[in-house]
Amino acid sequence: MDSTAIDDALASLDAGEIAGMDFSTIVGLTNEPNTPSGAGETVRRILQQVPLHASSRVLDVGCNTGFASIEFAGWATASVVGVDINPTSLAFARGKAGAAALPNVSFTQCSALALPFGDSSFDLVYVNNVTSFIRERARAVGEFYRVLRARGVLAVVPIFYHRQPPASLHREVERAVGADIPVRGKDYWHECFATPVAELFFDEEYEYIYQSAERIDWYADHVMSQPHLSALPAATRAALAERLGYFYRLFNDNLSYARFCILLYRKHPPNPEPILFKTRRLSAAD
Ligand SMILES: C[S@@+](CC[C@H](N)C(=O)[O-])C[C@H]1O[C@@H](n2cnc3c(N)ncnc32)[C@H](O)[C@@H]1O
Repeated sequence: MDSTAIDDALASLDAGEIAGMDFSTIVGLTNEPNTPSGAGETVRRILQQVPLHASSRVLDVGCNTGFASIEFAGWATASVVGVDINPTSLAFARGKAGAAALPNVSFTQCSALALPFGDSSFDLVYVNNVTSFIRERARAVGEFYRVLRARGVLAVVPIFYHRQPPASLHREVERAVGADIPVRGKDYWHECFATPVAELFFDEEYEYIYQSAERIDWYADHVMSQPHLSALPAATRAALAERLGYFYRLFNDNLSYARFCILLYRKHPPNPEPILFKTRRLSAAD
C-alpha cells in the first residue's frame, strides 16, 4: 500500500471499525513507530559484538516500519536490507529511509519463510520479535541460517515471560496482536535457535521499565500528531487515539511479566582448538 492508499483507507474508516482493529493494522495505518525491544541501544549493542565494514551485508527480518534497518544503516557503512510481509509498513520504512538520506538501506516485501536471497548472502541476520509471529518456526529459523555466510552472526531478540502473567491479560494480548503467544520462558528460545551449524556466543537479558499513564498519553499524542493523521475527521482521530492508548496500556501491563534478550549465534566453522581453563565474566556484584 502506498501513502495515497493509506490515506484512502484512513478516510473510509469509521470509529466502530477502528475499535475492532488489531495492533498490526493500527501500526500500518498510523505509522506507529513500533520500535524494537531496546530500540537503538539493541542495535548498538549488537554492532559492538559484530564488526562490520563497507562490503558487509545486513538483513533485518520482519523490519516493520524500518526502525532497526535505518539504525544499522546509520551506524555502519554496511548495506542493509529490511524485509517484511506487510507492504504498508514497508511504504513507511522507505519514506523514513528517504528522509534520512541513507543510500545503504533498502526494503523488500517477502516472507521470512522464503527469503529471496541466495545461500550465504549476509554477514549479519537480525530478527527482533518476529519468530513468535510465525507458525512454521523451524522453517523460518532454517531460512535465517541458510542466508547467513560462514562466520556470520544471527542476532535474535526474543521477548519471553520471566513470570506467569494473569490468564485474562495474556488472552487480551493474544487478541490484540492477532496471534497465539504461548507463555514461554527464555529456554524455549534457546531451543528454537539452537542448531548444529552455529554456536551461541552472547546472551544478554533486559527488563522493561513500567511507564506512567501520562507518558503513554504523551506518546499516543505524539503518534497522532503526524501530518497524515492530523487532517482526519475528529471522530476518526479520537477512535485511533483511543485504540492506540488501549494497546499501549495493555502492553505496558504485559511487559511487566516479560523480559527480552539479545542472543548472538555465530555460524560455523568454529575454532577447533579445545579450551581447558574456561572463564566467566564477573559482574560488579562479584
Ligand atoms: C512485532 S513486529 C516486530 C517488528 C520489528 N522487528 C521490531 O522489533 O520492532 C513483527 C513484524 O514481523 C512481520 N512478520 C510477521 N510474519 C512475517 C513473515 N512470515 N515474514 C516476514 N515478516 C513477518 C510483521 O509484519 C511485523 O512487521
